[in-house]
Formats: sequence, structure tokens, C-alpha cells
Amino acid sequence: MKIRLMQLDDYEKIYELWMSCVGMGLNNLDDSKEGIEKFLQRNPDTCFVAEVEESIVGVIMTGSDGRRGYIYHTAVNPQYRKQGIAKSLVDTAMTALQRIGINKVALVVFDRNEIGNGFWESLGFTVRDDLIYRDKALTEIVRIDT
Ligand SMILES: CC(C)(COP(=O)(O)OP(=O)(O)OC[C@H]1O[C@@H](n2cnc3c(N)ncnc32)[C@H](O)[C@@H]1OP(=O)(O)O)[C@@H](O)C(=O)NCCC(=O)NCCS
Repeated sequence: MKIRLMQLDDYEKIYELWMSCVGMGLNNLDDSKEGIEKFLQRNPDTCFVAEVEESIVGVIMTGSDGRRGYIYHTAVNPQYRKQGIAKSLVDTAMTALQRIGINKVALVVFDRNEIGNGFWESLGFTVRDDLIYRDKALTEIVRIDT
């Protein structure tokens, strides 16, 4: 297994991977090729894929606003799970974020996603029960939840 920086050319394969995973929260704008291109342009050194024999089996997108690091869309092909691939992707991305001066990272995960929550818990990502997550769409967005 090899981890390398994610490229825009990987988009179609990665999108297929996301759609094959239960628990992803995608949408028609941020997860379009144009949306991902925008994210990669802003965060060129902190998004990674895992490859086995030239084929993409895992992905993590992380980025920052210069203060907090954010993690998005971590996924591993079901056939390659429980081999430490997602953990390696997280470790690689955390090192990359630290390198650009980020001290703390955050992510959101569906409450119903037991595997996802078990995974983040095992890596020491604690639940903030003193906070309420709020957001507001600035553009009409269509959710694509898997
Ligand atoms: C969550 C996910 C990325 C984990 O990928 P993975 O490569 O299987 O994870 P790892 O092998 O690196 O697991 C690391 C640790 O996480 C925990 N973990 C992983 N999968 C787990 C599961 N199914 N049940 C319980 N704990 C789990 C374990 O503690 C594991 O360490 P261990 O194998 O030494 O016990 C993968 O299951 C996935 O793609 N799920 C669908 C998408 C998703 O939910 N993404 C996260 C939400 S944003």
C-alpha cells in the first residue's frame, strides 16, 4: 500500500469510491469536480489517496482556514478495510497539517455512522458535547447521503 498526494485526475475514481461507501455526506456542489478542484487548489499538500497496485483504495481530504484543520470524506474500499489504511491516511494528513502550523483538527460524522464513529474514537478524536454544530447554506445545495 502506498500513500500519495491526491490529484484532480483521481476525481472520478475517488467519487466512485465515496459512492460505494455507506455513511458519506456528499453534495452536488462541493463534491462536483469543480468543487473538489477548488478545495485542492486551496489545500494542495494535505489531501491523500492510498493505492494498492496502482488502484485507489482509500482517500482523505483535509484542509485548513489557517487556524483549524478540517477532515473530510475519509473512506476506504470495503474490500481493504481493517488493515490500517484509514489510520495511515489520517497519520499522513495530520503530519501534513502540522507542517503548515495547524494545532487542532475537527470533523463531522453522522451520528448513525457507528463504524465511522468507532474509527474516529479509536484515533483519539473526542466528542464535543458542549457544542452545537450549526450551519447555513449560502447557495442551494442538494445533499447526496450514501
Ligand atoms: C471508517 C473507515 C474509513 C475505516 O477504514 P479502515 O481502513 O478500515 O480503518 P483502519 O483499519 O485504519 O482502522 C483503524 C482503527 O479504527 C477502528 N475501526 C475501524 N473499523 C472499525 C469497525 N468496523 N468497527 C470498530 N472499530 C473500527 C479500530 O480501532 C481500528 O484499529 P484496529 O484494526 O487495530 O482495531 C472505513 O470503514 C470506511 O471507509 N467507512 C465508510 C466511510 C466512513 O464512514 N468514513 C468516516 C466518516 S467521515
